[in-house]
Amino acid sequence: MRLVVFNGSPRVGGNTDLLVASVLKGIDRHLHRVDLFRLNEMNIRPCQNCGGCTDTGVCVLKDQMQQVYPALRKADRVILASPIYFSGLSAQTKTMIDRCQPLWCEKYIHNMPLHGSVHRKGLLVLVGGMKKQVGADCAGATATAFFRSVSVEEHKTLAYLGIDAKGAILSHPTALNDVHEAAKQLMTH
Ligand SMILES: Cc1cc2nc3c(=O)[nH]c(=O)nc-3n(C[C@H](O)[C@H](O)[C@H](O)COP(=O)(O)O)c2cc1C
Repeated sequence: MRLVVFNGSPRVGGNTDLLVASVLKGIDRHLHRVDLFRLNEMNIRPCQNCGGCTDTGVCVLKDQMQQVYPALRKADRVILASPIYFSGLSAQTKTMIDRCQPLWCEKYIHNMPLHGSVHRKGLLVLVGGMKKQVGADCAGATATAFFRSVSVEEHKTLAYLGIDAKGAILSHPTALNDVHEAAKQLMTH
């Protein structure tokens, strides 16, 4: 299968990074192709709402989203990992999501949802410094809109709250194992 993984954290060696590393350890690279996008290191401009994609389904902006579109089109599985910022997804994550508007247009205006070889499934991994549920709820709502727009019709969510300091996720009793197992399961079912 083909797996696309988005890491939406700018913090190298931070909590999302560690969770993504654990996710990747659960994937057999001999069996599956993995496209990992470290969004903070990519040149992805925000959507300009120019309307260019409404008729054509193609974005007029030519930047590194040109690597993301084909990967998403071919993906069987999609993993989105982001820290919670101001009760939502990180800007890096949200910017990539907004640029999926051409895929939204294809699906909801032109009635041409993306078709993979299998029923597309996803995994959402969130980390927030506060214990408040609102951040996971708001980020989760945006992530759900993203997943459905790119025809990932079901996804599991693993949200770790009260994890703030860099590397604090290492002290969580189950998180690294949870995401590892969830990724393995995602690729087998
Ligand atoms: C700009 C900014 C905004 C944040 N806003 C929230 C928030 O609204 N809710 C929350 O739970 N944590 C918030 N945090 C804390 C981060 O979610 C937390 O530090 C997380 O562990 C960072 O993950 P990372 O190490 O993968 O980058 C914020 C952090 C930053 C830098």
